[in-house]
Amino acid sequence: MEVLHVSAECYPVAKVGGLGDVVGALPKYQYQAGCIAKVVIPAYKSRFFDTHEFDIVHQAGMWLGHQWFHFNVWKEKHNVLGFDLYLLDIPGLLDKEGVYGHYNDTERFLGFQVAVLDWVNEWQHRPDVIHCHDHHTGLIPFLLSYGYKYGRLRELPSVLTIHNAQYQGQFGWDRQYLLPSFDLWKSGMLDWNGAINPLAAAIKCAWRVTTVSPSYMEELFTSANGLEGLLSHERAKTAGILNGIDSQVWDPATDPMLPAHYDINTFAAGKEANKQHLCHEFGFDPALPLVSFIGRLVGDKGADLLPEIIGRSLYELPGRVNFMVLGSGDPHVEWSLQQTRQFAGHRFNVQIGYNEALAHRVYAASDFLLMPSRVEPCGLNQLYALRYGTVPIVRSIGGLKDTVTDIGDENGFGIRFIHAVGWDACRAIGRAVALYEDQELTLQDIRAYMMQLDHSWDAAARDYLKLYQTIVI
Ligand code: GLC
Repeated sequence: MEVLHVSAECYPVAKVGGLGDVVGALPKYQYQAGCIAKVVIPAYKSRFFDTHEFDIVHQAGMWLGHQWFHFNVWKEKHNVLGFDLYLLDIPGLLDKEGVYGHYNDTERFLGFQVAVLDWVNEWQHRPDVIHCHDHHTGLIPFLLSYGYKYGRLRELPSVLTIHNAQYQGQFGWDRQYLLPSFDLWKSGMLDWNGAINPLAAAIKCAWRVTTVSPSYMEELFTSANGLEGLLSHERAKTAGILNGIDSQVWDPATDPMLPAHYDINTFAAGKEANKQHLCHEFGFDPALPLVSFIGRLVGDKGADLLPEIIGRSLYELPGRVNFMVLGSGDPHVEWSLQQTRQFAGHRFNVQIGYNEALAHRVYAASDFLLMPSRVEPCGLNQLYALRYGTVPIVRSIGGLKDTVTDIGDENGFGIRFIHAVGWDACRAIGRAVALYEDQELTLQDIRAYMMQLDHSWDAAARDYLKLYQTIVI
């Protein structure tokens, strides 16, 4: 079996969120399970590109609307990531700093998809499956089926994985001229509510559609930012496959970013050493429980609720808890967190920015990880927290519901709350502080239990293989 993953992100080359983690890890585990996994992403201006060795494997040119672009495909030489990594470089289009947020993102990702297909079309042997991730690659299943240029790839099975259905990549029909020509009578496959909608097109045209957790799949049938009817209609080809984590990268026993290492037998002392270190760095009292939030500071993740949650908890639990926030995103949320810091003094710290090394240290040092998400297709942070013996406090939704059991239930190890509102999160934090202050060492038992849970990619890699086998002829 040979699969080509097409994605906008792949850790450690380009990562903005969980998509990057998934595409940087799943292919490695697929390789280990006997499937040849290749990944192609855009060649952004990236340090990885400068520090690793690449061979040029393909050079060509293409029209994007009225403009002609050259493109190059580079292959990483030494298989350093455990799979075949290709970077697709379109000078003048993709070679910018950063992944998203350019004024011409639509053209950028369109160009990327067209170049990928032009390249695959040249292959002597074709891959068995093309696996697309999110809307940035959502036009590929459509172009495979109906694009004139790719006739010989018409029978190539495609899979779409939805990491987040909030983002769909819509653009107006006035930009149809950017696409390679296709069967016009199939225009309806591209359209959703009068616009070209790459995510909707992929849901219609891909042979299988997956989400990154079973509960998120169920939720999408009733609420998918306008696509619920379409998804319900295509239900027969859908499946929810829970993400895993790269347990080689995320291992507190070997993690090079941690000041102190620990495993399931030494976590009490190990976590304490990491906590002392972080508390010293940020001026916290290490005797108090540390509750952290790590991630994008956006509404989907409930980050706008943090100022209220933190302010209220510090008021209701005076001198009993510390908070730490690490992330970046919505400028208004960033600003209100900075404001909260003014009055919270040494009980709260916020670090604005993306800092992978600090994130690892915060997972290891924290007692609790807070995730008040409004939407959570899978969520990887709670899985990192489990592996690092850090108790997750999560809103009961999507993948969080599938991976965290409440301490009130049998074999429970986390704290769940129902509503994405301040008071409910604060109630959950109250339960967390009570757990921390409990003298019966329940917290240590919980940590030991969480750390032995297996959330590695092995199971999911097998599930994807089984899924591919249902469509490969
Ligand atoms: C997106 C989702 C997140 C998921 C990740 C990887 O970032 O918001 O829940 O874990 O993709 O699939």
